[in-house]
Order: sequence, then C-alpha cells, then structure tokens
Amino acid sequence: MATTPTRPLVSARTAAVWAVLNRELDRSGRALTVLDVGGGTGGFAVPLAEAGHEVTVVDASPDALAALTRRAADAHVAERVRAVQGDGDALAGLIPPSSADLILCHSVLEVVDDPAGVVASIATALRPGGAVSVLVAGRAAAVLGRAVNGHLATASALLTDADGRAGQRDTLRRRYDVETAAALLRESGLEVEEAHGVRVLVDLVPAAVVESDPQAMLDLELALSARPPFRDIASQLHLFARRPA
Ligand SMILES: C[S@@+](CC[C@H](N)C(=O)[O-])C[C@H]1O[C@@H](n2cnc3c(N)ncnc32)[C@H](O)[C@@H]1O
Repeated sequence: MATTPTRPLVSARTAAVWAVLNRELDRSGRALTVLDVGGGTGGFAVPLAEAGHEVTVVDASPDALAALTRRAADAHVAERVRAVQGDGDALAGLIPPSSADLILCHSVLEVVDDPAGVVASIATALRPGGAVSVLVAGRAAAVLGRAVNGHLATASALLTDADGRAGQRDTLRRRYDVETAAALLRESGLEVEEAHGVRVLVDLVPAAVVESDPQAMLDLELALSARPPFRDIASQLHLFARRPA
C-alpha cells in the first residue's frame, strides 16, 4: 500500500504508545472520559476525540490550547474536545476528583516544577480502576546520544546527575529510567502495569532508512519496545499504570 513519507515516520515514533492505548480503549468498549495533562496542541487528544472519546486538555499554554482548538475544529470533533488552561499539579480545581477513565501525561513530567505534585493530582482525578499513560524522556538515550556525538563531559554529567540533567542550560529539567519513573507513580498509589521504550531506533537510524521501509521500521520499533535492554535505551519511556479499583 502506498504511503506518504512523513506519516509512517510519525507512526513509528508513537506506535508503541498507541499500541498500549488502543488495548485500553478496546478493553473498555465504550466512550471514555479522557484527560490529557499538558496535552499541548492535541497530537493525542484529537485522534482520541475522533475515535469517539470525550477529551479534556489541561495545559499551561494559551497558545497551545488555541492551536488545539483549531485542530479539533478542523477534524470536526470540537464538541468532544475541551481546552482548559491550568497547571498539572492543581487539577483539583478544574477536574472533578475520581472522574477520569484515562489520563495522558506525555512529555510533561520532565519540564514541570513539581512532578510528584502532578502525579498526585492525576491519581486524584482518576476514577478507581482508571488508567494513566505517562511518557517521559529517558536518561540512557540522552547519555548515549551525547557520547556518540563527542560530548563526553555532557554524557558523563547526565549519567551522574541526580535528575539526569546536563547542567543549567539543559532544556529538560530531568530524565528518567524505568525504575525512577515507576517509583514516582507508585508514590501516589498507582500500580504500574507496563513499561515500554518509545523511539528505540527511529532517532538513531538515518531518516532515509526509516523512509525506505516504514512498515519494517514500525514493526521493529514495536518488537524492541517491550524488550530490555532495547526498551531501556529508548528516547522516551512509556509507563502505563492504574489506580487500584
Ligand atoms: C513537550 S509538550 C508535550 C505536549 C503533548 N503532551 C505531546 O506529547 O505532544 C509539554 C506541554 O506541557 C505543557 N506544560 C508545561 N508545564 C505545565 C504545567 N505545569 N501544567 C500543565 N501543562 C504544562 C506545555 O505548555 C506543553 O504544551
């Protein structure tokens, strides 16, 4: 089947996350109440609304929310996407407690002031039995990436820094290993069910390789995503956890 070059590239970059999310959506078999914390411009929120789910995006950025609103309108799902400006660690004033079936928190915990506060806030917003999808930057991939590009001092700093940060000028405030991310979720009473690596290979191989056989790339990403040590060197780590029923 003919495909555009960009679509499979995007798919390979997010396939491991969607595989887990789709299992949860199929399992419930009904329209879910979804909350996307730091959902930005709606890369996940809009496809979820297109699939029939009711999605609220809470984000600190008015610009991101404006782009989200436009994107939802373009996709004809504006009635199922609610944009709320707010802070991820103060969901209580915005979202009824124990109300969300599924919460997404993707690429957020590495940039906020208080990641434990955001996770606690998420645990409160989840209904008992509800699930959370957390995507965080991986420390190991960053160490390897700096080292292969010749930045050995930065690689060393990333390896030993308590937060996995390469100094004050690092754009991210922290990075995680599977264990540290899982511990953060467990501190708020969440039960971690799955951990995957996301973008194990797509960030390493030349774009031409990805484009030469996008389906093979996607299949290999999925195969490696659950399998240590490949999982553990992925650019991002995906954890799927549940609030006990
Ligand atoms: C890297 S983007 C990720 C966007 C989206 N989740 C994704 O995966 O494409 C981080 C988002 O988190 C938002 N953000 C940062 N700090 C936040 C906070 N304290 N509360 C809510 N959103 C926040 C930013 O405005 C931005 O939209």
